[in-house]
Amino acid sequence: MNYGIILSAYILSSILFILSLGGLSHQETARRGNVYGIIGMAIAIIATLLSDQVGNYGLIIACMLVGGTIGAWVASRVEMTAMPELVAILHSFVGLAAVLVGFATYIDPDIHFTGVEKTIHDVEIYLGVLIGAVTFTGSVIAFGKLSGRIGSRALILPARHWLNLANLLICIWLGYVFLGAGSTIEGIWPLLVMTVLALIFGVHMVMAIGGADMPVVISMLNSYSGWAAAATGFMLSNDLLIVTGALVGSSGAILSYIMCRAMNRKFVSVIMGGFGTTSAGGPDAGGEQGEVVPISAEDTSELLGNVDSLVIVPGYGMAVAHAQHPVSDLTRKLRDKGVNVRFGIHPVAGRMPGHMNVLLAEAKVPYDIVLEMDEINKDLPQTDAVMVIGANDIVNPSAIDEPDSPIAGMPVLEVWNAKTVIVMKRSMASGYAGVENPLFFKENTRMLFGDAKDSVDTIVSNLP
Ligand code: TAP
Repeated sequence: MNYGIILSAYILSSILFILSLGGLSHQETARRGNVYGIIGMAIAIIATLLSDQVGNYGLIIACMLVGGTIGAWVASRVEMTAMPELVAILHSFVGLAAVLVGFATYIDPDIHFTGVEKTIHDVEIYLGVLIGAVTFTGSVIAFGKLSGRIGSRALILPARHWLNLANLLICIWLGYVFLGAGSTIEGIWPLLVMTVLALIFGVHMVMAIGGADMPVVISMLNSYSGWAAAATGFMLSNDLLIVTGALVGSSGAILSYIMCRAMNRKFVSVIMGGFGTTSAGGPDAGGEQGEVVPISAEDTSELLGNVDSLVIVPGYGMAVAHAQHPVSDLTRKLRDKGVNVRFGIHPVAGRMPGHMNVLLAEAKVPYDIVLEMDEINKDLPQTDAVMVIGANDIVNPSAIDEPDSPIAGMPVLEVWNAKTVIVMKRSMASGYAGVENPLFFKENTRMLFGDAKDSVDTIVSNLP
């Protein structure tokens, strides 16, 4: 097909991708943003298939059918709670694709460059494979940590910074050897050895990051997958892939920045690893914390019958229990009685950015009562009751009170400032960061043990 038409289609796709990112930044426009993205991607695929560089349609259609069917099957079955690990494993595919395309491009006998062009092409291949390999194993480990197959604690190897530095220096030297290689056979060895080192680095980098800092890892790998896609675009001389990769790479970088700010961490400190290790605040710390005061669902209903203001703080447990619909019912009923009900959302609540907002939107909770942490924290001292539904790390006072805690410095929802706090969870288990929570032992805290959905259902049915 005419190159001009293909280029126009690529420009249209790029515009749709930008509109899609813009749409995804607000709940009200997120659905529209997704539609723009789907249309942009459909145009991109059709235009690429019609370009002169593409042939062998039988194989491509067969691969698309197999890949599309698996993708549709997985996406239709995935639970909301498993979404973060699905995203992580999808990032790993982008990394793996960049590695495979890099090797395929390097050994392609039909590609002949000389002089500066060859050097530029080889740099593209080397960087593409490097970023792709780190993204691949990093995302696989992130998948393991998020799905609970690998412990969320940071793995701290002795002299880990030196190991990383040595790895980096060897990769730079291998790059020098690769660029100076006189033939494909000579160049393939440094490329292969660097790939193995980059794969090891990806594993080590994410293993060294503790549970509480995983949000930054997810957004960082999101960014890496974008840069890996952009590198693939350079290798394949595909302008749209370069633009799309750059959009994903830069939006992931911005998200990483936002996540770091939400957790009061420096990006470099997070990727150097080591946060989230056991310390004075860890679960092994032991120590007498005092007694917890339990409350029944029936007594909670009675208590809620006497409040004027309520703040609900949802966390990962609300997602696990699928409690968002009963929570929405409870909200409606209390609002009908004139109670000022609002939600306090921590930026890293749940297991993916915007996790709680998506669940509450799905359950039709009005957007205007869903507030961010900074907006709600200042109102908590004047609030009658807070219901913490399946949240733990994001309401942990040791982030403020214990400088040695793995989550020290992370801003949290200061729910203990309200008159009464009801914490709903199944046991005394710690949250994702593996840190004990002194909130449970505070004088104004009542523990409502049990599955969050069952508890909220009982509360709703017993409301006075
Ligand atoms: P968590 O600290 O993980 O606490 C969730 C709590 O929910 C658990 O303590 C658990 O206690 C309870 N729970 C689980 N299933 C339940 C059920 N069916 N009914 C009632 N309660 C249930 O969650 P959070 O407070 O939302 O904090 C998020 C954590 O995940 C942070 O450490 C954050 O850094 C990390 N993280 C976040 C992200 C993003 S991007 N949001 C990504 C990766 C990691 P029981 O077992 O006792 O019930």
